[in-house]
Amino acid sequence: MIIVLGIESSCDETAAALVRADRTILAQHIASQDEAHAPYGGVVPEIAARAHAERLAPLIAATLADAGMVLADVDAVAATAGPGLIGGVMVGLVTAKALAMASDKPLIAINHLEGHALSPRLADPSLEYPYLLLLVSGGHCQLLLVEGVGHYRRLATTIDDGLGEAFDKTAKILGLGYPGGPAVERLAATGNARAVALPRPLLGSAEPHFSFAGLKSAVMRAKQAQVSSGYSDADIAAAFQQAAIDCVIDRTRRALAGIGPETSISALVVAGGVAANTAMRTALAALAAEHDLPFVAPPLALCTDNAAMIAWAGVERLALGQNDPFDCPARPRWPLDPDAAPARGAGVKA
Ligand code: KG4
Ligand code: ZN
Repeated sequence: MIIVLGIESSCDETAAALVRADRTILAQHIASQDEAHAPYGGVVPEIAARAHAERLAPLIAATLADAGMVLADVDAVAATAGPGLIGGVMVGLVTAKALAMASDKPLIAINHLEGHALSPRLADPSLEYPYLLLLVSGGHCQLLLVEGVGHYRRLATTIDDGLGEAFDKTAKILGLGYPGGPAVERLAATGNARAVALPRPLLGSAEPHFSFAGLKSAVMRAKQAQVSSGYSDADIAAAFQQAAIDCVIDRTRRALAGIGPETSISALVVAGGVAANTAMRTALAALAAEHDLPFVAPPLALCTDNAAMIAWAGVERLALGQNDPFDCPARPRWPLDPDAAPARGAGVKA
């Protein structure tokens, strides 16, 4: 049975994993760089690239040792080849090329977003194509029709900030440190979302796109007006999270309405770092139930960046006979659906 070594280094997690075609994660290691970046309130690309370069080789060795395997036991080496911080992506991809070349195994260059998009299938063997995927990570917020490996139809994207970015900026405004998403969620649980009025950008608009920049600015204004208004930081966090969830639900409902009867989707699926948010998962599960659709969300550890999802995407591609040449490039931008028309009003984003 196929076993793939996966490598992830596109942002601030250095990770390696061994995944078998029967969906068993044989071993995995994730080294977070949170402490290195915390003083700066965000990921510093140069620090990230150096940390990946220092940590990746020992981490791969430890992953193989945990599984009681050597490189010769592996069928292919898969690595994130983009999109992401290019220094880190190059460290992971070049390492994968060296390992594949030295052991005479196929190399598989994985789009990080494809790793997220297929991760629900690693967790749930019954999940069939096509499914509607809400992909919510640090830099992204997209609705994708996942029709098969390599076949992604982007129905919507953010015209400005990613959803995770909005959580992280809210955390920064509230002095909660980095990474912000989990901290905002924890604080929001103790607050009153109705105590602070915040906008819901693009709510009700015809195309299912997202926008979070205005919400972030409103959080900033709410914080500045806090002393005179008498609400707490927890209230601001709760109001922000509720506004973000309201937008996500409205936009996803709009996308569901736009899927014609010729496409029978199997499930509503969420993936990416923000999919770890429990309140968001609960709201999405209710939306799926409203549409008589199963709701699929990977376990929390598979939502945030990890190498098991990269190895799994490698398993899916290798099973289709796909691999990549040793001169394949590291790509800072790499849209999942290159044919998608730019969203009206959007800046240039992957
Ligand atoms: O997918 P991911 O690990 O990395 C990217 O590819 O971007 O996503 C990271 C993002 C960060 O912005 C982080 O704050 C957010 O996911 N995040 C959360 C939660 N856990 C992580 N956002 C909201 N609630 C959470 N529980
Ligand atoms: Zn990610």
